[in-house]
Amino acid sequence: MLEEKRKRVLELTEILEKANYEYYVLANPTLTDQEFDKYMRELENIEKEYPELASPSSPTKRVGGEVIEKFEKIRHSIPMLSLPDVFNEDEIRDFDERIKKAGYNPQYVCELKIDGLSGSFHYEDGVLVTGATRGDGVVGENITHNVKTIRSLPLKLKEKINIEVRGEIYMPRKVLAKLNQERSELNLPLFQNCRNAAAGSIRQLDSKIAAGRGLDTWIYHLPNPVDYGIKTQWESLEFMKKLGFKINPANRLVNNIDEILDFIDEYRNKRDTLSYDIDGVVIKVNDLKMQQELGYTSKFPRWAIAYKFPALEVLTKLTDIIFTVGRTGRITPNAVLEPVIVMGSTISRATLHNEDYVLEKGLKIGDIVSIRKAGDVIPEVVEPKLERRTGNEKDFVMITNCPICGSVLGKKPGQVDHYCLNPHCPARHIEGLIHFCSRKAMNIDGLGEKIIEDFFNLGYIKSIIDIYHLDVHKKDLQELEGYGRKSIENLLEAIENSKKNSLERLLFGLGINGIGDKTALVLAKKFKTLDNLMAQSEEDLKALKDIGPILAKNIYTFFQNVDNLELINSLVMLGVNTVYLGEGEKYSELITDKRFVVTGTISFMGRDEIEALIESYGGHPSSSVSSKTDVVIVGDKPGSKADKAKELNIEIWDEEKLSDVLKNLGELN
Ligand code: IVH
Repeated sequence: MLEEKRKRVLELTEILEKANYEYYVLANPTLTDQEFDKYMRELENIEKEYPELASPSSPTKRVGGEVIEKFEKIRHSIPMLSLPDVFNEDEIRDFDERIKKAGYNPQYVCELKIDGLSGSFHYEDGVLVTGATRGDGVVGENITHNVKTIRSLPLKLKEKINIEVRGEIYMPRKVLAKLNQERSELNLPLFQNCRNAAAGSIRQLDSKIAAGRGLDTWIYHLPNPVDYGIKTQWESLEFMKKLGFKINPANRLVNNIDEILDFIDEYRNKRDTLSYDIDGVVIKVNDLKMQQELGYTSKFPRWAIAYKFPALEVLTKLTDIIFTVGRTGRITPNAVLEPVIVMGSTISRATLHNEDYVLEKGLKIGDIVSIRKAGDVIPEVVEPKLERRTGNEKDFVMITNCPICGSVLGKKPGQVDHYCLNPHCPARHIEGLIHFCSRKAMNIDGLGEKIIEDFFNLGYIKSIIDIYHLDVHKKDLQELEGYGRKSIENLLEAIENSKKNSLERLLFGLGINGIGDKTALVLAKKFKTLDNLMAQSEEDLKALKDIGPILAKNIYTFFQNVDNLELINSLVMLGVNTVYLGEGEKYSELITDKRFVVTGTISFMGRDEIEALIESYGGHPSSSVSSKTDVVIVGDKPGSKADKAKELNIEIWDEEKLSDVLKNLGELN
């Protein structure tokens, strides 16, 4: 039995690592997500039942879960050096000439300089054993638990060899944009750029956090090439690629300085279109013997340089700081800038987050400031240029009253944000209405910011409920300047259609503090109906995987508030749907969210088919019976699982019961 399981573990490991490689390294998926999940679950279950079969390099480690107490130090057997930076063409030519003077006419490898943090990865017998940060170059930190969660880094190589490779751990731009979006919904400080976010994620004690951060790798250095009979950097890259590492396809073998400059020009232009941040180009002598002969200075290799692109910061004038009120009443200071182009887009506003942020940066109105835009991320005011001060700048003063309703602002002790405490502040209402109608919420086409503002000011829409009563004013609206009959008809139709939205849109639209569209979907999927969600206690909510204590409290308090309950009641009466409609996922009380084990032969259906049906109802098939199993389906010649089910007092369905359930659901004739 154990031998059988051991064999299956190996099979599953191979299937999962292969799928992982094809998906994350080759960007060419070969399994569906469902298939992948099914194999992963099977492996998890075996490992749970037979912990002795759970290898430290099992694909199940990719989801994280290992928590360390502190970072152990790791000494690099070969120091991890950095490269000398150069900033212009002349300096690149100097480098080339120096090498030529030493008697060489080298080929070079041009590589992108990835803006992340470098890592060293050790494999023994082809199995990943440690991952370490660069640290000070001599001693780094052991980050193995987090490194194992990086999907593009193989846990097992295609050959059983001992090897160390080095490369960059980075966060793709899209991942950062999404992460920051989620963090802003939770009022958490945003990461300034991909590098900080990657570094912050890899320095987590709990590998679940790193696992959720979508980190990626590009591998570019083999410290011991001679051990593998490798003679050039280009061969190193090819060799590491064959072993299963993710090697940047942009790498290029070039013959002379002109080709280096062409490469730099090409990627200076393509830089914005990449899915990750780069801050330059690395130029390495290709021949390793030449590299060895050129040697090292006290700090750097003499055989490579890093050309750094000019900084993407630009200067402009901070003409004013204005304040906006969000739908939670939060006050945000915003920089008004003389319009300036950064990375192809015109920037005239930038958030300054809160009073402390402005004070820490020491900004004054009238300052010349530097502006930066990293990847997809929101523009950022970096710092005031003190040397450009004229003495005419004005000090920043935080407002004390709401810029819209004039109420006195409040600030909770220990927090940085100021809030307008007036629940009837019009700004809060307009922002809330805009949010309710927005694309990711109820997606009411035609009810954009401008129209909502107009209708609000004209008194047609004062609250969410008014949106669904807008048809009463149809005639008046059609006579409004700039609207017209057809556009109002379309608008009313869009409003009517929005009533049919799935629950997650309504949940997101309600604007519960901290609930973004993703969390709304998680909640809708989990609880299926609004009633069900509203019945949860704060403790129940806190116990959910994706919901922390703050969110749990926010959700719970939202549904305790009388005004909110009244709003929900009215929405229901107006016919707004409050049920999760899913992406074709079906629901059955008997199956959804329950754990099933199928054992023995069922005469009318194959096991795969039964498991697929269970999954299509959001149930969870598994291969081993444990106290967590809800139902064991027992067919002919069931074996020990049926006995175990009886022993653990688990519900058993025989063929007849299964056929009844499926007939009732219309899945069987
Ligand atoms: S080679 C001895 N190649 O830039 C060779 N480094 O200052 C060591 N980096 O610390 C590095 N992309 O974090 C190399 N294609 C690339 C790189 C790269 C980014 C980083 C690395 C290193 C720093 C060099």
